[in-house]
Amino acid sequence: MTLLMGLDLGTSGVKILVADADGEVLATNTEEYPLYQPEVGWSEQDPADWWAATLDGIEAVLEDPAVDPEDVEALGLTGQMHGSVFLDDEGEVLRPAILWNDTRTSAQCDEIEERVGEDRIIELASNPPFEGFTAPKILWVQEHEPERYDQTETILLPKDFIRYKLTEAFATDVSDASGTLLLDVGERDWSPEILDELDISRDLLPEVYESPEVTGAITDAVAERTGLPADTPVVAGAGDNAAGAVGSGVVGDGDVWGSIGTSGVIFVATDDERTDPEGRVHTFCHAVPDTWHVMGVMLSAGGAFSWFSDTLGGPEDVVADQLGKDAFEVLTDEAATVDPGSEGLIFLPYLNGERTPHRDADARGAFFGLSTRHDKSHVVRSVLEGVTYGLRDSFRIVRDDLGVDTGQLKAAGGGAKSPLWKQIQADIFDAEILTPNVDEGPAYGSALLAGVGADVYDSVADATEQAVDIVDSVEPIDQHTRVYDEYYEIYESLYPALEDCFAANSAAIESAQDILDEA
Ligand code: XUL
Repeated sequence: MTLLMGLDLGTSGVKILVADADGEVLATNTEEYPLYQPEVGWSEQDPADWWAATLDGIEAVLEDPAVDPEDVEALGLTGQMHGSVFLDDEGEVLRPAILWNDTRTSAQCDEIEERVGEDRIIELASNPPFEGFTAPKILWVQEHEPERYDQTETILLPKDFIRYKLTEAFATDVSDASGTLLLDVGERDWSPEILDELDISRDLLPEVYESPEVTGAITDAVAERTGLPADTPVVAGAGDNAAGAVGSGVVGDGDVWGSIGTSGVIFVATDDERTDPEGRVHTFCHAVPDTWHVMGVMLSAGGAFSWFSDTLGGPEDVVADQLGKDAFEVLTDEAATVDPGSEGLIFLPYLNGERTPHRDADARGAFFGLSTRHDKSHVVRSVLEGVTYGLRDSFRIVRDDLGVDTGQLKAAGGGAKSPLWKQIQADIFDAEILTPNVDEGPAYGSALLAGVGADVYDSVADATEQAVDIVDSVEPIDQHTRVYDEYYEIYESLYPALEDCFAANSAAIESAQDILDEA
C-alpha cells in the first residue's frame, strides 16, 4: 500500500498524519509543547521542544497498527508561518524562535517602510510590513542582539528547521517564504533589492522550492530513532494556510477557503498575482506551482468565541456535561433561538488587535447597540456574527476590489463544525458554504503535496480530485442576507469611528498602570 505522511508544526503542538493514496486518513498523532511570553507582546518557542515532539510524534504514528512504516513513500511539511529560527555555523539554535503572533517589532515595520519605501515594499513583497512577519524580527535581532546576529549563519522558518533536522538540508517553499517579506512574490525567489536595503545577506537564507518539489531525504540517524525508512523523500511543503487550502481542495482560480480556528482566514486561490495596493489583504505564492493566493487573516475568530465560552460559559459547561455535548454546541443552540442580526447587537472581534483589513495592534473588542432587550443568547449570536462580519471585510475586498469572481467558500475549522455558524457564514457572505470530507487541517494538505512529489499524483489538482469530496452544502437565505447587509454597513463604520478611541485607550491603560504602580 502507498502511504503518505504529513507533518504540521503548529503553535500548540505538532500533528503528524498518515493517509493512503485515496486520501483516507489511517493514523494521526499530536504532541504538544509550551509557548513562552517573557514580556508583554512577546511570543517565543524553543525549537528543541519542536524537535523532541516531532521525533516522538513520528515514532508514535508509525506504531499505529494501521501503518506499515515501509509503505511511507514521502513526507510533506507544513506549519506556523513567519517565525524565525537563528542558527550558528554548527547548525545550533542561537535564541528562542520569535513567532508569528509576537508584536514587539512595530518600530522595525516603520523602518522597513522607510528603507525600502512604502509603495516599493508592496510592489516587491506584495505586502506591507506586519509585526508578525519575519523581516521585522530579523531587524529586531540585528538591533537588540548584535552579538547573536553576528554569529548567525542561517535563518529558517519553523517547519524548515524541522526539515533541517530531518534531512540536513536548508530549504523552504514559496508559500511560507512569502510571509517573510523578503521574497519577491511575483518572481517566487528572494528579492535582492529588499535584502540589500535591509542589509540581510542572501547567504543566511535557504534555497526556495515549489511546494511539491523534493528537498532532501530522511537521514540514517532519524530513521533509526523514529522507524521512518532512511531516504524517504521530504517535499518542500507549504505554510499552514496554503497546505490547509490544498487539503480542502482549494487549488483552482477563484476557489475560496474560510478557516475559523483561533484566528480566522479567508484564502482565495488565484492564477495570477493580485496585490491590494493598499496592503489590506496578504498576497502570497500558493502551494500549487506558479499560482498565488490572496488572504485575509483576522487575529481573534474562534478565539473570540473561546474567550466568551471560557469567561461566561460556565453554566453551559454544566449543561453540556449533563447532556454529553460540548459547551460550543450548547452555546450555539442558544444563539439559534435569536433572529439574524441579534436585534441590533453588534460585536467587534478585535480582542487582541487586528491584522487584516485593519492593521492595528491597539484595536479591541466591543459590544455595540446593547439594550435591556438583549439576553445571553443575543450576546452569543452577536459573537458568531461579529467574527463573520470581520471575515466578510476580507471576502469583500477580494471579491469587489480585486475582482476575484467567486460565489462559494469551503469551510474548515470550528466554523465548519456548527450548522448555525455555517448558515451565518452563507448569509453574511451571500455565498454557498461547502464542507469537505476531511477536516484534518494543514497536515492533510502537506501529505497530498508529498504524494505529488513522490509521483503518486500527477499534480496538486490531481491529488485533490482523488482525495477531496464535498459532503455538505449550505445556501444563503435571501431574507437573512438582506438583514445582514443592513447591519454590516454599521459594523463597517464602527472601526473607523473608534480607531482614535482604541489608541487613546491603549495609552490610558499604560498610564493607569503607572499610577497604580506608584508606591
Ligand atoms: C498567517 C498566520 C497564521 C500563522 C499561524 O499569515 O500568521 O496563520 O501561520 O498558524
